[in-house]
Amino acid sequence: MASVLVASNRGPVSYARGEDGELDARRGGGGLVSGLSAVSSRDSLWVCAALGEGDREAVRRGIGEPGVRMLDIEPEVYADAYNGIANSVLWFLHHHLYDTPREPVFDAEFRRRWGSYRAYNRAFAEALAAEADDGAAVLVQDYHLALVPGMLRELRPDLRIGHFTHTPWVSSEYLRMVPDDIVEELLWGMLGADELGFHTWGWASTFIGCCSQRDDSTGTAQGVWPSGDPWRGVEWRRHGVGKGRTRVRAYPLGVDGDELRSLAHRPEVDEALARLRAEVGERRTIVRVDRTELSKNILRGLLAYRELLTVHPEWRDRVVHLASAYPSRQDLESYRAYTASVTELAAEINAEFGTADWQPVIVSVEDDFTRSLAAYRLADVALVNPVRDGMNLVAKEIPVVSDAGCALVLSTGAGAYNELREDALAVNPFDVSETAEALHTALTMPRPERADRTKRLAATATALPPQRWFLKQLDALREQKS
Ligand code: G6P
Repeated sequence: MASVLVASNRGPVSYARGEDGELDARRGGGGLVSGLSAVSSRDSLWVCAALGEGDREAVRRGIGEPGVRMLDIEPEVYADAYNGIANSVLWFLHHHLYDTPREPVFDAEFRRRWGSYRAYNRAFAEALAAEADDGAAVLVQDYHLALVPGMLRELRPDLRIGHFTHTPWVSSEYLRMVPDDIVEELLWGMLGADELGFHTWGWASTFIGCCSQRDDSTGTAQGVWPSGDPWRGVEWRRHGVGKGRTRVRAYPLGVDGDELRSLAHRPEVDEALARLRAEVGERRTIVRVDRTELSKNILRGLLAYRELLTVHPEWRDRVVHLASAYPSRQDLESYRAYTASVTELAAEINAEFGTADWQPVIVSVEDDFTRSLAAYRLADVALVNPVRDGMNLVAKEIPVVSDAGCALVLSTGAGAYNELREDALAVNPFDVSETAEALHTALTMPRPERADRTKRLAATATALPPQRWFLKQLDALREQKS
């Protein structure tokens, strides 16, 4: 039994068959992994889904890490829940990604998948209910598991339940396209938590806005904004249950500066940096690092770079755009098509402007953190232009490891913009011309100014590192119920 539990779709470890035919464990990084390391693994448990065949085999053979429980959910149910609902519906809603003349379509197929999403959430709620000590704190993560708080509350009213959303939250206007019974299930699923966390107050307020003045078959809800208190929330009355309050707060995740700097100065990063320098020569660099993700706006970033080379031809042969865009969610056709378009557009730009000894864009499709860290250190300019993003940690990581200072071109749609706005060059992510001009301003920024801004950006970026981010939420949950 555990006193602190974390639940997320993707866990801290995954299994794949190595060349020798044996199952290899691959440990992931990221904020949650270092966050949970603040708590002793004797008392904590991470519940996650088995994502592929390797994971499923590990579960069946009883292979696992201490403190991690993987759920072997039926592959079809999992695919419907993860690809069919979480990534195709909820992710699209939160990031405003729909091409509305054609999508979304809420039909019988959607309802079938929603049934799987429900079953997948229930599998998590049941596992958590079975593993949690009396009064344990449970921190549920993200849009994959939005129904878990409500389900878990019913099974175990003694628990302290938190839910953290790593994405933006959909506006009430946009949410209206979803059938009301589904909205009802989603919002009341979340309201089963004692506390809901978001990366910014903006997303938190949008969530409260979606719950406010609700009067539906589950109950009634109202947003509350007490003056002088560090929290906001939703007061609710649920038919047959009674009344309660769910607190809603912002916990803007930051990066661990010391850890990141030491990772960025390992010998293999120095070697990768030397290789990049040899490729780039004396030219300036514009760096971006993303999953090939629709919301990251990689295509408009490339269009802006093309416009920069057109409108400011003085940069031809004097700059290289290093774009790391590693494949993501390739089970979805829209992501496969997007990945192909990124590569095609980069090739077009290279064909249009490239010369025998200058390749204007270098796209890397490897998920290679060592190379990314080297690119971070080298960057003169960082381009982070998502259409919407819960936070975007790349915008926080680059200033922390930059060798000589780096100008940050940052979308106003990124959660990170709230904290970094003063020292970043703000762009409307849809405005390609504005982005091209911001790249030009960034490239011409005097080095001392760049270095000063980078120093301030790095200080802000490290204000709430993962361990403190995690413990703060844990403390808030414990303090609320005691
Ligand atoms: C976002 C989500 C995470 C997710 C990650 C990678 O950051 O908030 O929950 O794990 O993307 O996406 P994937 O689908 O590969 O897990």
